[in-house]
Amino acid sequence: MTFRAHILGAAAGGGLPQWNCGCENCNLARAGAIPSQTQSSIAFSANDRDWAILNASPDIRQQIAQTPVLHPTDLRRSPLRSVLLTNGDIDHIAGLLTLREQQPFKLFATKDIHAVLANNPVFDALNPNFVTRETIELGETVEIAPGLRATLFAVPGKVPLYLEGASVQTDLEGEQTVGVCLQAKDKTAYYIPGCSTFKPDLRARIEGADAVFFDGTLWQDDEMVAAGLSQKTGQRMGHMSMAGSDGSIEAFKELKIIQKFFVHMNNTNPVLRPGSPQRKQAEASGWTIAQDGMEIRI
Ligand code: MLT
Ligand code: MN
Ligand code: ZN
Repeated sequence: MTFRAHILGAAAGGGLPQWNCGCENCNLARAGAIPSQTQSSIAFSANDRDWAILNASPDIRQQIAQTPVLHPTDLRRSPLRSVLLTNGDIDHIAGLLTLREQQPFKLFATKDIHAVLANNPVFDALNPNFVTRETIELGETVEIAPGLRATLFAVPGKVPLYLEGASVQTDLEGEQTVGVCLQAKDKTAYYIPGCSTFKPDLRARIEGADAVFFDGTLWQDDEMVAAGLSQKTGQRMGHMSMAGSDGSIEAFKELKIIQKFFVHMNNTNPVLRPGSPQRKQAEASGWTIAQDGMEIRI
């Protein structure tokens, strides 16, 4: 039995480079000076044959094409068994539209995230005769591919950007933003691509894990403001940052976790530049910056 993860997309919404962004990283990526990264998605398998994709990014067509283990094994036979969603953000659901070609798979999400899809009739393009929508309760464990179990838990976050009202709570804990505990045989991995604050219950939950894939959106909270790109801080977007006394590097410092990966990096994040001081600092603290195409054995 093997337990594998495959990074399909290491970047946050927009990707690297983002189509309309002229920031330093995006320009370097366009010039081929640093690796480009597609949008947020990861695949897991417990047997190397059957795969679950966690979050369906707008780049899923390219991601599957670049990932031989996800190629069809026969006429209209895909190794994809399921898609699981951790929130209703565009970078995590838009790829569902690409998966509309009469291919059977299960679509797992909480009731609230399923409601977001149900309220957008374009997702009816997923023919219910092929794609079955299965609701997972928080705390319930389901098999999302043979031998691969997933359990969802609430993490602090917010509703998707396109559903934000006049005032936005960014540390909402419910069914809108979830983390995933994945288990195969005796190994445990956590996938948490969005988390606005690190609370004691999360610390206790992930202590001792074999692998954690964690929200690496920004290096520091005011990164996009300082770059003149946006008025929004990381906190306002529902993401905790890597650096600083309340950052994720500090929060994970004393935890015993065998492999730690940052995922969902925004294109402004300096860790996307190999050799940057920030990348070196994260690596010195035991983190790996996920990259498209990375294969991980757990
Ligand atoms: C996020 O992770 O903050 C969202 O994906 C932002 C977005 O929808 O572009
Ligand atoms: Mn995102
Ligand atoms: Zn950029």
